[in-house]
Amino acid sequence: MKKIIIGNWKLNPTTLARALQIQSRIHHFVKKSRRAFVILAPPFPFLHPLVIKAKGLHIAAQNSFWEATGAYTGEVSPAILRSINVRYVIIGHSERREYMRETDAQINKKVKTALKSGLTVILCIGEKSRDEENFQKIVKNQLFSDIKGVAKTYAHKIIIAYEPVWAIGTGKTVHPADLYEMAMYIRRALFDVFGKKAAHSIPVLYGGSVHSKNAGDFLAVDGVDGLLVGGASLDPKEFGKIIEIAAKS
Ligand code: PGA
Repeated sequence: MKKIIIGNWKLNPTTLARALQIQSRIHHFVKKSRRAFVILAPPFPFLHPLVIKAKGLHIAAQNSFWEATGAYTGEVSPAILRSINVRYVIIGHSERREYMRETDAQINKKVKTALKSGLTVILCIGEKSRDEENFQKIVKNQLFSDIKGVAKTYAHKIIIAYEPVWAIGTGKTVHPADLYEMAMYIRRALFDVFGKKAAHSIPVLYGGSVHSKNAGDFLAVDGVDGLLVGGASLDPKEFGKIIEIAAKS
């Protein structure tokens, strides 16, 4: 399986011109490193212009709503995303859980609507702190709540991004041995929900303070199928190096 490298641009950059420039520079690395599967997640207004110029890159939204249409001011639905040829959506990112107070129940509704609309869901889960005694169980409960009621026929449309909240944007990262343990733990939980056969194909990614100097360590961990990169994905050279490392691993 090709390693999946996702660039989550969050609320960046501030102009379309800059977004297109970053994409075009990243594209240069994608052309050279066909053995990596690269997805960029820009802010909503940049989605369509980036889709048009995607060429070998894939484009994801950073969020979508749980209804297809209706009186929901300010929301964007999976159906709208599909109509502009967006095929991926990040759901449940810890920043949305924290700042927008998204709950697991809401995330579960979003996951189901996005899957039904034909999008592939990149579901983010992760503990706030490793000091919590049952942090593994916390992650498992989060996962179970977020995918509750999802039929196993949708398993091939799910990507899990394990992002410990304490590692996001902090420079702190999980130790590869601990990452291995967590990746296996998540995989076993997925087996419980979807059965071994269906869950087998679900990629499990790592995210949290990834850059070109540590990407190789995470990608070498058994059971880790790729990376969700925040800050470093806005620097085309840095992100390009990560893509090159992924293409070789
Ligand atoms: P970071 O963000 O790489 O800047 O830590 C990762 C994420 O939030 O997806």
